[in-house]
Amino acid sequence: MKFFIDTGDVAEIREAHSMGLVDGVTTNPSLIAKTGRKYKDVVVEICEIVNGPISAEVLSTTYDEMMGEAREWHKLHKNIVVKLPLIPDGLKAVRTCAQEGIHTNVTLCFSPNQALLAAKAGASYISPFIGRLDDISETGMELIEKIVTIYENYSYTTEVLVASVRNPTHVSDAAQLGADICTIPFPVMQQLIKHPLTDIGLKKFIDDSKKIPR
Ligand code: E4P
Repeated sequence: MKFFIDTGDVAEIREAHSMGLVDGVTTNPSLIAKTGRKYKDVVVEICEIVNGPISAEVLSTTYDEMMGEAREWHKLHKNIVVKLPLIPDGLKAVRTCAQEGIHTNVTLCFSPNQALLAAKAGASYISPFIGRLDDISETGMELIEKIVTIYENYSYTTEVLVASVRNPTHVSDAAQLGADICTIPFPVMQQLIKHPLTDIGLKKFIDDSKKIPR
């Protein structure tokens, strides 16, 4: 399973990338707003750090405006994937982008049918938001299972990008279901590394090493 990092914080991206944990990056307007920087500046800097798909989201909601933004992002860097919302004009933009060779990530997916439509429109990636489904007492991971099955049934090439990941169990469950990618916030990546028995075991090794004659 590929790991993307879900952030606009370039320090987090550099740190995770140095551990070999970053195959790509996803951003969204909320994440970029937290940085206090211009969207374009952040995305350009990310493209210099990571050689992989970098999702940059459109800020408009009409077909013509979204296509304008999509073409601008596409011109900026070959690795930029245009993130489009799962609304009728978004699907139209996905279709046109596919015809123009612009890669797309369809965001805000909450149902198997929405994922089916995105694949039919020609999306490169579908982003089901599992954490937000868990938040309303649904089981987000069931959506991943259904989308993986649907895409396998019809051999769609759209990659399943598990989004709104909130904890390590989301990551291991997504991997067991065969999702293509998990986009993971940096604090969750740090949680993946940690295990109390690793810390206890390492402390004992260090303590015992001091008893070894030099
Ligand atoms: C995905 O592309 C989104 O940026 C992100 O995963 C949303 O996560 P959230 O529900 O924690 O905001």
